[in-house]
Amino acid sequence: MQTSSSLARAVDGDRFWADIEAQAKIGALPPRGIRRLALDDQDNRARRWLMDQGKALGCSAHYDDMGNVFLRREGQDPSLPPLLIGSHLDSQPSAGAYDGTLGVVAGLAVVRALAEQQIVHKRPVEVVSWTNEEGARFAPGASGSSWFAGRRDAETILAARDDDGVTFREALTDCLALLEAQGAQFRDIPVVPHAFLELHIEQGPVLEAQGAPVCVVTGIQGVNWYEVEVNGQANHAGTTPEASRRDAFMGAHALVGALKQAVSALNDQVRFTIGKFALTPNSVNTIAQQARFTIDLRHPDPAVLDTLDAAFQRLAEQEWSNCTVRLEATSKVAPVAFDHHLVAVLDDAVKAFCPQAPRLVSGAFHDAIHLAHLCPTAMLFTPCRAGISHHPDEHIERVDAEVAVRVLAHAVERLLTT
Ligand code: GLV
Ligand code: MN
Ligand code: MN
Ligand code: MN
Repeated sequence: MQTSSSLARAVDGDRFWADIEAQAKIGALPPRGIRRLALDDQDNRARRWLMDQGKALGCSAHYDDMGNVFLRREGQDPSLPPLLIGSHLDSQPSAGAYDGTLGVVAGLAVVRALAEQQIVHKRPVEVVSWTNEEGARFAPGASGSSWFAGRRDAETILAARDDDGVTFREALTDCLALLEAQGAQFRDIPVVPHAFLELHIEQGPVLEAQGAPVCVVTGIQGVNWYEVEVNGQANHAGTTPEASRRDAFMGAHALVGALKQAVSALNDQVRFTIGKFALTPNSVNTIAQQARFTIDLRHPDPAVLDTLDAAFQRLAEQEWSNCTVRLEATSKVAPVAFDHHLVAVLDDAVKAFCPQAPRLVSGAFHDAIHLAHLCPTAMLFTPCRAGISHHPDEHIERVDAEVAVRVLAHAVERLLTT
């Protein structure tokens, strides 16, 4: 087995865990978990906390048009592209305290080790927190990272509305004011990083089952998001005969059955989720005029996603319980394979701590799915209990997380010295 690097040994495990616990208090839900919807007050508090930590480490703070935050530890040659490490601080509505936060706090832990050891490195190192990775408040997710990587235009992102009708642009105002008031410098044009590394919880059951505290992620499966409207006719629940009903709920029910059948017939690795469903006018004694729902569709093979996309469009052309359908793909993000060289660097780092670790393809999407189109990118996973996430019961073991951060530090040292 290789030995771990000096930077890996220099990571302060107590301080790292104290930071995880400090972040878990921001937007804490009783009795456990957090709620930090993108660009809300708690998400902004989490940003402020991050900036304070960066300042204490002598980093300069930067932000951009999307409210992405960068803490920069300067290199000997400031003109070199920075090595970027991070993830996101926003959360699902009822979330655990580790999804995203772990990767940002891990970046801080590595930069703290560099600072405390007074290590001089040629290229700058930056810790990043991307805005609205989750997409729970403003769809689609990974707003900050997709814009940074040039994959989505600002206008489309800024026009997105939350369920209360607030636009991303409006919600961003407080965030940008806060970042400016905190002394962060505005960056007009995104810098193309030397590489991007993201540590994240697995959000699945594999690592825990294999007893591995950490592993390399070789890529991310593709994900399509859809919005579906089923349009019928509202009418009296008690008097309208069966033959003349145009019940949007019944239409949606039949359509969902057909969509699910198309998915199941094709491939058992497809992930098909309806996470939002709403009826209008939503009254106990009125036939639904409209049903609206979302679809989250995922698979590692782009051909499978294309086949299902065509099948979904065909089903939407039919009438269901005398109702018409409008189905729109609001986001399509193709699968990615991470950079081979960077994966090899992470592989070596993982092997120094856990020779038996598997390699995984991520079932969840991450900011890395967009960064991979901009610069060499790769990820590490650490296990979460029973694979549970996007839920307050999400839980990680400190001992696993600490190993994962040391693996990250090991890889960073290698990347800064070669
Ligand atoms: C992001 O949180 C995802 O849904 O994978
Ligand atoms: Mn995440
Ligand atoms: Mn998430
Ligand atoms: Mn995610």
